[in-house]
Amino acid sequence: MLHGMAIPNTFRCFRIHNDDRGHRSGIEEASLGELSPGEVTLAVAWSSVNYKDALAGTGNGRILRSFPLVGGIDVAGHVLRSRDGRWREGDAVLVTGCGLSETRDGGYSQYLNLDADDIVALPDGLDLRQAMALGTAGFTAALCLLRMEHNGQKPEAGPILVTGATGGVGMLAISLLTGAGYQAHALTGKFERLDELTALGAASVLDRRTLTMGMRPLESARWAGAIDCVGDEILGWLTRVIQPRGNIAACGMAGGNELHTTVMPFILRAINLLGIAAGSTDYPTRQALWQRLAGPWRPPHLEQIAANEVGLEDLPGVFEAMLSGKTTGRTLVRIGGD
Ligand SMILES: NC(=O)c1ccc[n+]([C@@H]2O[C@H](COP(=O)([O-])OP(=O)(O)OC[C@H]3O[C@@H](n4cnc5c(N)ncnc54)[C@H](OP(=O)(O)O)[C@@H]3O)[C@@H](O)[C@H]2O)c1
Repeated sequence: MLHGMAIPNTFRCFRIHNDDRGHRSGIEEASLGELSPGEVTLAVAWSSVNYKDALAGTGNGRILRSFPLVGGIDVAGHVLRSRDGRWREGDAVLVTGCGLSETRDGGYSQYLNLDADDIVALPDGLDLRQAMALGTAGFTAALCLLRMEHNGQKPEAGPILVTGATGGVGMLAISLLTGAGYQAHALTGKFERLDELTALGAASVLDRRTLTMGMRPLESARWAGAIDCVGDEILGWLTRVIQPRGNIAACGMAGGNELHTTVMPFILRAINLLGIAAGSTDYPTRQALWQRLAGPWRPPHLEQIAANEVGLEDLPGVFEAMLSGKTTGRTLVRIGGD
């Protein structure tokens, strides 16, 4: 289908600027030669919206290291041309993180050059749309569980609390945990989404707005572990309510970037606080995690979680809604489509 496909002189992308005219972003025409160089050129099929994309696109967070850049930290599509022996025309591939929309042009573009070292082959069992339904969010949820299990987490130890539960990472984490045999509990600021969280498998749903956190260095230990998308006072509270030897995977800061706690949970309960940096994960781990996400760790509710699909022109509205906490689940960005 792709053989001999000509790349148009110009095509659509969603580009982010910050210059003497200020921060701005929107749809533009670009040519391949203007974009970051790379050995592999991709016809982009799908991208997605992550919290980091919303920060980058609105200028609310310092994500881009240089300007202008095309946004989009996730991309999936077919190889059009390759100067690297590992990749051939027609290959279905994906990249998450790896500097996309940070140090090089990202996935919100019809065509894109990629560094061959960053590319992961689409694993058997996922199509391109499903790969982007997972995207950085799904990869992050899986990385959290991988790190927790490396630190001894087991389903029989007890429930795992997921915070920021209605977000992309949160919903995928609940579904993934449930599918992997864990009991997942959810903490949300959108308690009205109780039914959706329960449908994903959450055995218990807590309302963040009425949560009593207590003030003691050690509170009653209720969960065997946690995946935290929120940070700040929620992460501080988690350190005080996790059972002995339990793991907290700290992946997000949707609620703030501070952490106030004491050493007591670490030296009296031997809890582990695990840092998660999905974008810079080493290549063997990325490959292995994508294989798991296509197989035993595939979130059973992937299609329901990623029901929202938009085009490049819709991105500003999605970014605003996401930063004000109004989105739920994953939003796919259709570029070339299937
Ligand atoms: N470390 C990494 O490698 C990595 C990778 C991916 C994502 N992340 C981070 O993980 C977090 C979640 O990402 P995402 O893509 O899932 O974003 P998202 O879809 O916007 O989800 C964030 C969720 O956090 C909760 N939330 C939002 N604002 C909040 C506030 N002010 N206080 C407390 N909770 C709030 C909301 O859930 P409820 O209403 O249900 O509480 C929201 O749905 C972000 O901070 C993102 O930057 C980190």
